[in-house]
Amino acid sequence: MQILIPCHRAKKTGAAANLGRVELLLPSPLVEIADERLGGVRLLLKRDDLIHPELPGNKWRKLKYNLEAAASQGHDTLLTFGGAYSNHIRATAAAGHRFGFGTVGVIRGEEHLPLNPVLAFAVSRGMRLEYVSRTAYRDKPVPPGRFYVLPEGGSNALAVRGCAELAAEITEPYDVLCCPVGTGGTLAGLALGLRAGARAMGFSVLKGGGFLRDEVARLQREHGGESSAWAVRTEFHFGGYARRTPELDAFVADFAARHGVRLDPVYTGKMLCGLYTMVRRGCFPPGTRIVAVITG
Ligand SMILES: Cc1ncc(COP(=O)(O)O)c(C=O)c1O
Repeated sequence: MQILIPCHRAKKTGAAANLGRVELLLPSPLVEIADERLGGVRLLLKRDDLIHPELPGNKWRKLKYNLEAAASQGHDTLLTFGGAYSNHIRATAAAGHRFGFGTVGVIRGEEHLPLNPVLAFAVSRGMRLEYVSRTAYRDKPVPPGRFYVLPEGGSNALAVRGCAELAAEITEPYDVLCCPVGTGGTLAGLALGLRAGARAMGFSVLKGGGFLRDEVARLQREHGGESSAWAVRTEFHFGGYARRTPELDAFVADFAARHGVRLDPVYTGKMLCGLYTMVRRGCFPPGTRIVAVITG
């Protein structure tokens, strides 16, 4: 599918005609996993990671309506926040480059040279990096200038709207829709787009992720919707954000060997390792149909 978003800079300068056009694999594929460890539970993967190499998964879902809003409000520069390894920083830089916006990334902590691959990619796509101390970062400072500001992780009401569309793409019947949770925007949207009778289940990748329940509810209210058919599991953080354990690493390697799907240990690996543990513990009755979103 080809997506067109009105592009501020292209209009102003008559820049390259293909700015603002991008080929996306939408609806993203839904594939069933055959795995004897699942017993009578059916597992399907919603392969959002295949939507686009630079705008995969929930990144595209969250950015879509924000890019439209930025363009319609006449902005030419996107500004957002993130850590030095942020997928969201990377995707914002890619989206800005493809859709003709300048981009500024406010990065938590000091500059380390050479740049890591995430920041090097962002710079290669034209992003200007502004480093702020960890203390100052807490207030999410916006440097002087006129920007369309995206929050950390890209989660706002328009991101929730984009994520709700994912659920609507699923034509197979399902009972549970799962995703990893970092800031809560993806889960907030999925839970609003559910088919009747289904529930959404988020797996916190953060230690002490209980606060995410308030965040998901807040994001839903901000979007103007509300749903109670969702839950956040907080026990599968594997030590905290970006932490790993031998169990998690073994699960990710084994999943790639069995199914040819490379999970990332920060998000989707934790979700599926947690989900398989729940299946093993008998948390889902036989016949339950689960869709797990591969968010990136
Ligand atoms: C691949 C991937 N999956 C899941 C998430 C978590 O999504 P959210 O921040 O909306 O909870 C992120 C972070 O945005 C991510 O990069």
